[in-house]
Amino acid sequence: MNKIVINGGRPLQGEVAISGAKNSVVALIPATILADDIVVLDGVPAISDVDSLIEIMKDMGASVERAGETLTIDPRGVKNVPMPYGKINSLRASYYFYGSLLGRYGEATVGLPGGCDLGPRPIDLHLKAFKAMGAEMSYEGNSMRLATKNRDLIGASVYMDTVSVGATINTMLAAVKAKGRTVIENAAREPEIIDVATLLNNMGAHIRGAGTDIITIEGVEQLHGTRHQVIPDRIEAGTYIALAAAVGEGVKISNVLYEHLEGFLAKLEEMGVRMTVSEDSVYVEKQEELQAITIKTAPYPGFATDLQQPITPLLLKAQGRGRIMDTIYEKRVNHVPELANMGAAIETQGGQILYTGPNRLQGAAVKATDLRAGAALVIAGLMAEGKTEITNVEFILRGYSNIIEKLTQLGADIQLVEA
Ligand code: EPZ
Repeated sequence: MNKIVINGGRPLQGEVAISGAKNSVVALIPATILADDIVVLDGVPAISDVDSLIEIMKDMGASVERAGETLTIDPRGVKNVPMPYGKINSLRASYYFYGSLLGRYGEATVGLPGGCDLGPRPIDLHLKAFKAMGAEMSYEGNSMRLATKNRDLIGASVYMDTVSVGATINTMLAAVKAKGRTVIENAAREPEIIDVATLLNNMGAHIRGAGTDIITIEGVEQLHGTRHQVIPDRIEAGTYIALAAAVGEGVKISNVLYEHLEGFLAKLEEMGVRMTVSEDSVYVEKQEELQAITIKTAPYPGFATDLQQPITPLLLKAQGRGRIMDTIYEKRVNHVPELANMGAAIETQGGQILYTGPNRLQGAAVKATDLRAGAALVIAGLMAEGKTEITNVEFILRGYSNIIEKLTQLGADIQLVEA
């Protein structure tokens, strides 16, 4: 088990480049199974979720070559075998194999998904869509089997009771080769959904409306290969922008699509954060006094739930009292006691997070409880006086590529050591 050790209190300066989007690439890789030819993905981030997915794809018979940030995937060797349960439950996004195997074979046997502890992570909406398209569900041990009678999925209209990124993408994956038309109503609008639809359409699919709340998919017989550039990771970008405002004295964050961060940037401006937003980068100056604000997360284009934890250490520097309400995952509060351990005036009350600033944080031994909570603790460690040790760092390495190198390059005193 590794841990991250940070000697905090140092100002950061320089430039950091944002990598490809984790929440896109964890869908793009399974989506390649639907192609009858080679698919090349550029801008793939160096994160452990990608390592896990490559292993699963190879176990299934695909050939995958990795050269830097480029993956060359030949799915033609994929055999429809029960997914290896051990690897499957290491990441929630493994549920995208349901949609892509159903889309290709009309059947799928996949281990039930795992993922971060953010409270219950149901997949009832995924299953509602698959059933509407003719798949029947049964359990085989730790795995779930989905299959249609004659291996054909039939296009259907599906209303999403809750806006769901995963269910929206999974339905697209199952629908692109189904017989007839599928309409997804109350679809999620995240940029990652547009990215997956772009890949599928470039493979020959007929998807319209991705990025709006109604997506229409006309099934086609066959999908061919293509080459695709993964969009930048808006959550990694938001994390580094918050970090730059908290401990930076002039940091440029490049490879940023600011239009993917409008809800987040608006709240930073409300705090008084001084930054310059350009076409593909954000420059963050050393900050003067900041004002405490209230944050309420919402589906895109609202304030992303994935950014309420990374922005929290910055909020702790601000003057006044504020609140954070996560309407997507009410239990996404496991970072609060860890921050309080570092001396922060922060607590949870009835599902809300309350904080009072400004705070001077002290280094401490803390643990990452999920991916974005871990990112918040890294930022808090950079802000704090003294040494901070963070355990359970595997959560952080799932979603932040080369984070030690990127922060060291900005002047941080941070190491990954054997615990
Ligand atoms: C995606 O998870 C992201 N993960 C999450 O990022 C992100 O927090 C989340 O979307 C919300 O934006 C990936 O894309 C791999 P949802 P997903 O389905 O698809 C409920 C990170 O830190 N729901 O949009 O699993 C669910 O309980 C991760 O990178 C159902 O009720 O989230 C939640 O309250 C954490 N039934 C809400 O919908 C379902 O069948 C939104 O979940 C599915 C979801």
